[in-house]
Amino acid sequence: MIISNKLNKMLSGNSQIRRMFEEGNALKKQYGEDRVYDFSLGNPNAKIPVKLKQAMLEIISEDRADTHRYMSNAGFEKTRESIAKSINKRFNTSYNYNNFIMTVGAASALNIILKSILNEGDEVICFAPYFLEYKTYVENYNGKLISIDTSQTGFIPDAKVLEAVITEKTKALIINSPNNPTGIIYSKNVLEEINKCIKKCAKKYNIDIITISDEPYRELVYVEKEVPWVPDLIENSVVVYSYSKSLSLAGERIGWLLIPDECVCSKELIGACTVSNRAIGCVNAPSLMQKLIEVCPDAKVDISFYDKNRTVLYNELKKLGFEMLYPEGGFYIFLKTPIEEQSFIEKCKKYRILTVGGLAFECSGYVRIAYCVSEETVLNSLESFRLVAKECALI
Ligand SMILES: Cc1ncc(COP(=O)(O)O)c(C=O)c1O
Repeated sequence: MIISNKLNKMLSGNSQIRRMFEEGNALKKQYGEDRVYDFSLGNPNAKIPVKLKQAMLEIISEDRADTHRYMSNAGFEKTRESIAKSINKRFNTSYNYNNFIMTVGAASALNIILKSILNEGDEVICFAPYFLEYKTYVENYNGKLISIDTSQTGFIPDAKVLEAVITEKTKALIINSPNNPTGIIYSKNVLEEINKCIKKCAKKYNIDIITISDEPYRELVYVEKEVPWVPDLIENSVVVYSYSKSLSLAGERIGWLLIPDECVCSKELIGACTVSNRAIGCVNAPSLMQKLIEVCPDAKVDISFYDKNRTVLYNELKKLGFEMLYPEGGFYIFLKTPIEEQSFIEKCKKYRILTVGGLAFECSGYVRIAYCVSEETVLNSLESFRLVAKECALI
């Protein structure tokens, strides 16, 4: 077999989403794109801000050679300085460009930090349901992902359960707020409890635990609730950020990793992550996108687009008798399936609705509905949802 055992295992594990993707394409061919309600992928649909497009054109027309050449593996200093200033202003912090490494989206930021800290068999804890790629990334570096079920605590991490799971092999904890797929924002209090637990366990086992705060949905918040700045609350935390969702630039692949000076071995860690950027083959983040972020560090998409979809879907699904939390951020609804998960997915498909099963997020009995689709898709899907509800005897 030419495919490695590890990849082979991963391919079979991913089969549900691949199948959904292929089945979606087949349905679209059969019924037409507009008659298939594809809520499976978290592909941002809000318009890119106009000022961003203008800035992109200006950067290209400047015709400066340094825009397109190799650079430091950490990225352009000016870009990192511009981001540091923006973050300092928002969160009253005092970072400088050295604390930031520009990355190929959040995905590569997660990969470089994990590559830099994991030895074979090291454990990384996260709270389920979780972004399905965490497992792949941890296993890329021969680590072991340990997940904690939060479905019994309203998808809020319980520090007591975390304490029971930490061992001398624990190297990192990944947290994600606003959360994919639940849409929940972790409060200051929750983060403080996590910090207390980590401090206690680190002392008990004489280890350092890095908390990786994965924040691609930070700017997608629909409620009057603060998304706390994690390094202020949890010791030895680093931040992973992405412009995929905040600027609808998912295909352009741009984000960053922040390692504060207060983080244990910060200098060594910054050096290791910079080298890891090269070692995983990214070399540096796309230069044109870095130039863009440098001039527009605070730009954001208009999130009222997602908010409208969130409100319509939540209200209509609730009326039909479905159970779910009202998402506070992100662009997903995590819906409790009224019947067995796979049967529910099949019923949805019968009415041309595509979702992703909770099992893919290690939390069965749910489906994820990605509402980052057009308003028409949402409105046109409602009759199909009604028919599904009827078949599940909800109405
Ligand atoms: C929680 C979470 N982390 C990371 C990523 C990866 O984002 P990026 O496109 O920036 O690599 C995603 C993408 O959907 C995500 O949902």
